[in-house]
Amino acid sequence: MIYSQITGIGSYVPEKVLTNEELCSIVDTSDEWITSRTGIKERRIAEAGLTTSDIAANAARRAIKRSGVSPMDIELIIVGTITPDMIFPSTACIVQEKLGLKNAAAFDVSAGCSGFIYSLSIADSFIKSGRYKNALVIGADLLSRITDYTDRSTCVLFGDGGGAAVLSANTENTRGILSTHIHSEGGHDNILKLPAGGSLMPATAQTVNNLDHYIKMKGSELFKYAVKYLKDVAEEAIKFNGLKPEDIDLFVPHQANIRIIEATAKKLCFPMERVFVNVEKYGNTSSGSIPIALDEACVSGRIKEGDLVLIDAIGAGLAWASSIIRW
Ligand code: UT7
Repeated sequence: MIYSQITGIGSYVPEKVLTNEELCSIVDTSDEWITSRTGIKERRIAEAGLTTSDIAANAARRAIKRSGVSPMDIELIIVGTITPDMIFPSTACIVQEKLGLKNAAAFDVSAGCSGFIYSLSIADSFIKSGRYKNALVIGADLLSRITDYTDRSTCVLFGDGGGAAVLSANTENTRGILSTHIHSEGGHDNILKLPAGGSLMPATAQTVNNLDHYIKMKGSELFKYAVKYLKDVAEEAIKFNGLKPEDIDLFVPHQANIRIIEATAKKLCFPMERVFVNVEKYGNTSSGSIPIALDEACVSGRIKEGDLVLIDAIGAGLAWASSIIRW
């Protein structure tokens, strides 16, 4: 049996912090509303000129260094993102060039906020099949570039950042990804989409005037799907592996809203002490959310070697996913 083990993890967030207080001078909102409805206190915003591939490459450099894997031995790069540098070429190819990973195939995955777990699932399959020995999986988004800072219902939620994991084949023990579970349900673009800039609505002066290049979201409708599907997909992973919720050492859910995290944990009977939360610092960083949280959980000692870690996420599509990892 080949396991794909996370041999190195890293993350990167831009330095500039945008606090709730600062947002109050931009839109009609309050720290009290944002904190009580979302749990978010601040988020990171990329300076002009910084791109998604820069965030991805910075996170990946840290992950590769920690893995001890030679850059020349990385055979696959997958970037989960909904904010690529350009529609094409892929951000993964741009990262390949920035890091000099000459021996890798590279492509992007568009799966909304579950982009990192979708990418992990694909890389895991390549490694378990014996096709590749080392893969670089990245989740990175620069949501501030597609956020309408006149729309208080969305602009308080999002931030920039990304994380990366090196996956390596392991045949010696059972450390690694035990399973991944990915799901989609089309037909929900009315609740979460970026309408313009694609083939349906190419960029024109009118789409720019209409602010159609920004995220449109019906938050309260999405909230209900998020709690249900995050709970379902976490349960699926636990059952698939013959485990019980109490066997999981740390649950690392998508960091979109503390109320979604708490409601999901409650339905799963997870005490919050075993749930990792950093949404207060970064807001929702989409594909960056899970790998940033995993990196922080490792660095702070919340994840230790041998721990069972459950991750799950949901986003545009709808697309949602989970995985259980023996760390
Ligand atoms: O990662 C996957 C993608 N995203 C998500 O998972 C997000 C899921 N949704 C959510 O997190 C929540 O639905 C939100 C945080 C977006 C909104 O919270 P809510 O409790 O569902 O609020 P709401 O949209 O029902 O709005 C309640 C009120 C409204 O006022 P009225 O109509 O009751 O008078 C809004 O206009 O809150 C108002 N409101 C605000 N007030 C102050 C909305 N945004 C703000 C704001 N500041 N920033």
